[in-house]
Amino acid sequence: MENSKQEQTLVRKFEKVNRILEKHSYNQSDLIGILQEIQEEYRYLPEEILTYVATALGVSPAYVYGVATFYAQFSLKPKGKRIIRVCDGTACHVRGSQTVLKAVREYLGLKPDEDTTPDLLFTVETVACIGACALAPAMMIDDQVFGQMDQEKVEQTLESIIQEEKGEEANVFSQ
Ligand code: FES
Repeated sequence: MENSKQEQTLVRKFEKVNRILEKHSYNQSDLIGILQEIQEEYRYLPEEILTYVATALGVSPAYVYGVATFYAQFSLKPKGKRIIRVCDGTACHVRGSQTVLKAVREYLGLKPDEDTTPDLLFTVETVACIGACALAPAMMIDDQVFGQMDQEKVEQTLESIIQEEKGEEANVFSQ
């Protein structure tokens, strides 16, 4: 009795995961697609969800964990709502991408071992060429490219995104 209560609580907790699993008919061979959709929903793959998925699919947690860690597209750490990708390809590197990266990290107050802000608003990554070499040094925030970055431009850009986010938050609360 106690067990089935616990099971029901677990099922409710992972309702979104259950919907994804159902969509894939609990098919073990769809594991990558399942994990992709879960990551879209949560922005990363929480460990407890990986264990839950393993149980639901009838495979070992080690197997699911192995797939999740094998592919670079999956993240086992929480990611921010906005993803900043500082380009460190050759053109950007020679034109000062490290200065851009430093400016971004400093503005966000990231500690050396952090890539994501504690409020989960930003994650900072470095990437190879984003195809905007003429605008080097360049970076992306989500899908938008920002070129010819320097410290001042980094600060202005991030400030406007933060204001945008505050506006959205205020809208949510006023609804
Ligand atoms: S190297 Fe940075 S956009 Fe190409």
